[in-house]
Amino acid sequence: MNVGAAFRRRFEVDPAGVWAAPGRVNIIGEHTDYNFGYALPIATPQVTRCAAARRADPVVRVASRQRSPDLVTVELEALGDNPEPGWSRYPLGVLYEFHRRFDVPGGLDLYIDGAVPMGAGLSSSAALECAVAVAVRDLYGIEVTAAEVVDITSTAENDYVGAPTGTLDQFAAMLCTGGHALLLDFGDGTWQHIPLALEPFGLELLVIDTNTAHELVSGEYARRREQCTAAAAALGAASLRDAGDLTPITDPVLRSRARHVTSENIRVLAVVAALRSGEDPRAIGPLLTASHESLRDDFEVSTPVLDAAVAAALDGGAHGARLVGGGFGGSVLALVNADSAAAVAESVAARFAAAKLRAPNIFTVTAGDGARREC
Ligand code: GLA
Repeated sequence: MNVGAAFRRRFEVDPAGVWAAPGRVNIIGEHTDYNFGYALPIATPQVTRCAAARRADPVVRVASRQRSPDLVTVELEALGDNPEPGWSRYPLGVLYEFHRRFDVPGGLDLYIDGAVPMGAGLSSSAALECAVAVAVRDLYGIEVTAAEVVDITSTAENDYVGAPTGTLDQFAAMLCTGGHALLLDFGDGTWQHIPLALEPFGLELLVIDTNTAHELVSGEYARRREQCTAAAAALGAASLRDAGDLTPITDPVLRSRARHVTSENIRVLAVVAALRSGEDPRAIGPLLTASHESLRDDFEVSTPVLDAAVAAALDGGAHGARLVGGGFGGSVLALVNADSAAAVAESVAARFAAAKLRAPNIFTVTAGDGARREC
């Protein structure tokens, strides 16, 4: 049953439309967003869909195909009082932010159907937030730019959900376009679409979801942010964006954290330069692997399972591989020859089986489109 039909069955009225937003796979540029650096995500072809309709009364009802409780009902005015627990915080947080900023005049019925793997480090939460946000925007004719939607959805995630994340995921969900990576500059808030021509070179991107869920609300992500702020302060800098010589940072842990951020920014720009040059994109493989090593050793957000997936992908013939997203679990991205993708996947699956790890979920990914109205 498609999401429109599911809406009809749930709410016994027709939806006014269906909106969709993707997850993201970050090609490179991890933990750089809140340090005013650079990142280069693509959108996943998998999307979260939101069928929606206005209501005349100030009541919000959200239902989900995947989550329970499968129906949550809240008065618009009560949204700020006592955030509901669980998954509904994400859509309700977005509604709360819209209502706070624009005084949305009526309620909504929303039915959510998500195909972005959850807990896989592919930003299913941003997909959900942005699908809801573009539905609310269009249904109530609220004039907001994509950048404002990013602000609304990321504020919802920070303040309402309580996850201290940056804006990478929401930017990717809103702004990516098919066949392109999105170069984000968090320092000046600008972006550029970079053509991603892998197929002509016989290349593919493989996602290895290790089935070890990550948890961004937990303390480690917040701790990394604090450490980055402290490292910038030790340099007398506003952020790590323009940090050069790191020796004034005397604390070795803070210096390592800063080294990851500064080296990662350089790697993002090197990947963009390689993609723009039209040369063989295999050239970016070592930069991806260097990013993983930096996240593992300097930023310390990898796990033995993610490291095993990267090592097995490289042993299986990948040109480069790295964890994607915040770390502490989730997925690995590998750049592979299209004709050896199956061999790389087998290498990873065999390594996991030998180590008695849960079987990974491995699939190829192409660069999809950002948030949009589907019908
Ligand atoms: C998570 C956060 C993003 C970003 C990445 C790491 O996905 O939501 O804001 O910080 O981790 O690059």
